[in-house]
Amino acid sequence: VFNRIDHIGIAVEEIEGSLALYRDAFKMQVAHREIVEEQGVEAVLLDVGENHIELVAPLGPDTPVGKFLERRGEGVHHVGYGVANITAALEAIGATGVRLIDERPRHGSMGASIAFLHPADLGGVLTELVQARDPESPI
Ligand code: CO
Repeated sequence: VFNRIDHIGIAVEEIEGSLALYRDAFKMQVAHREIVEEQGVEAVLLDVGENHIELVAPLGPDTPVGKFLERRGEGVHHVGYGVANITAALEAIGATGVRLIDERPRHGSMGASIAFLHPADLGGVLTELVQARDPESPI
């Protein structure tokens, strides 16, 4: 079902300090930065080869990431797996009984289609499916 690890999502209180840490300690380059109102986060993707680390900072305390930080503090937040066909992957995974947070794919950063699976059915790991943008199609 999965063709690679697309990214690891890391919840942070605020972007600038964390960004400086990853840039200075690991010399990572910023691939993309975006405010995703729909998810209540500011997200920064950092390059690690052809994969990414995604720093996510909440836009407010009442957002999912804001609540996560309050409960668990900063740290690993989700794992994003690459899939070739997100609709087929959701159907196949849903058929095994894993609950889908997103029944249908929605827009992620950099033109990707994404969907989240319920962490309660996956050993506490929030899991994201990512179908990269078709390079042929316009953003
Ligand atoms: Co993500």
